[in-house]
Amino acid sequence: MKTVRLGVAGLGHVGCGLIELVARQAELRLPGKVEVVGVSARSRTRNRPVDIGGYRWFDDAATLAEDPDVDVFVELMGGSDGPAKFAVETALKAGKPVVTANKALIAMHGQALEDLAQAQDVDLMFEAAVAGGVPVVRVLRDSLTGVTIRRVTGILNGTCNFLTTEMLRTGRAYEDVLDEAQRLGYAEADPTLDVSGLDAAHKAAILASIAFTADLDFDKVSVAGVDTIEVLDLVLADRLGLRIKLITEGLLSEEGVVCRVAPMALPFDHPLARVDGSLNTVRVEGTPLGAVTLTGPGAGAGPTASAVMGDISKLFSPTARSPFGRADHHVRRVFVDAAPGERSAFFLRVKLSDKPGALASLSEALAAQNVSVDKLLQDSADESGASPVAIVTHVCSRGDMQTAADHVAALSSTIGAPQLIPIDSIG
Ligand SMILES: NC(=O)c1ccc[n+]([C@@H]2O[C@H](COP(=O)([O-])OP(=O)(O)OC[C@H]3O[C@@H](n4cnc5c(N)ncnc54)[C@H](OP(=O)(O)O)[C@@H]3O)[C@@H](O)[C@H]2O)c1
Repeated sequence: MKTVRLGVAGLGHVGCGLIELVARQAELRLPGKVEVVGVSARSRTRNRPVDIGGYRWFDDAATLAEDPDVDVFVELMGGSDGPAKFAVETALKAGKPVVTANKALIAMHGQALEDLAQAQDVDLMFEAAVAGGVPVVRVLRDSLTGVTIRRVTGILNGTCNFLTTEMLRTGRAYEDVLDEAQRLGYAEADPTLDVSGLDAAHKAAILASIAFTADLDFDKVSVAGVDTIEVLDLVLADRLGLRIKLITEGLLSEEGVVCRVAPMALPFDHPLARVDGSLNTVRVEGTPLGAVTLTGPGAGAGPTASAVMGDISKLFSPTARSPFGRADHHVRRVFVDAAPGERSAFFLRVKLSDKPGALASLSEALAAQNVSVDKLLQDSADESGASPVAIVTHVCSRGDMQTAADHVAALSSTIGAPQLIPIDSIG
């Protein structure tokens, strides 16, 4: 089993998220082992949520990038220029693959960095740079190579989507909701990059470049943000059946690729209209595919670090992988009939004979297994004397519910087999 040795530059949200994932890699499904051999950030002494005491420290990210012990350089510092760019260039020139989450760097210098990576025949990977934990880069680059893509739209800035969602939901003004987003950590202390649309534009440009095999030219991307949107706009649009959201768009035209970020009004039944809060989404339309939409957390230490790790896992030597992605060092699990601790709410439908005490026996059978009723509907008996009862239970043990349902089925007042269906709770 091969080990990939990482040099990690940047120990903020994403960098610490990655260190945490490395520490619990036994639970992951990487093709081999990952080891951190060196780290770099601005301050060595800053308090961090992970212990970095065991790693070699580098004051300078570029020195880490070319250290002979480093197989893969991971850039998580941010910034389109300066140390991040210099360190990435240094790693590529030293023939080392680079994994980065830095959308500003890729949007502004992706073309030149690609040339450098190709000249050196090394990988430059940036799944985490677009839509955080949502796997869009590799889906576009690899999985959809058999599709002629016509249009890629998306909601790629969680802060903007949170702002428009909350302004409409609460009727509160832009500044007020922005304050709250900053308090909750959804928005940066300086939110300009987000609310101006620039951050979404970086990501849109990267996606358009991949989707349409176009040289990335950020100067041609037109950018508008949500900073001019008023509650009034959102409310009036809502009354007309429209949701206003900050939408990114990459479009293939006869002349070339159009890439833009701007508020757009979407009919309620549009797939992007229902993506609320800080979620990100990308919709790819093409031939002969039709359309595919991917939605999920576009930011946050864990989701973003998981995308970084996904890139790292592609950098193990390209021996054929097991079709199910399993390797000898992975924990091997077995299928089981049921998980004893599983809990759920349930929909239970029973037909009861129309005689006194039938409903009471049903309630007792449920209560005896600690199943409590949240909602109950009873219809009048039909001509055969069967009275349908539908129950929504509170969340309970699946095992207890099944036992209760078996007891209900056995009641003398129950007609036919009860219908028991678990209620899925999202999230
Ligand atoms: N946060 C997210 O949810 C998210 C999602 C997608 C992509 N990204 C991208 O991931 C990257 C990192 O984001 P983040 O949120 O983790 O940022 P962050 O929390 O601000 O952390 C940045 C890290 O880089 C270090 N750093 C900054 N400038 C440096 C320099 N000149 N030399 C050496 N180290 C330097 C900082 O050092 P100190 O700790 O010592 O100050 C810090 O550890 C950015 O490119 C960002 O756009 C982030």
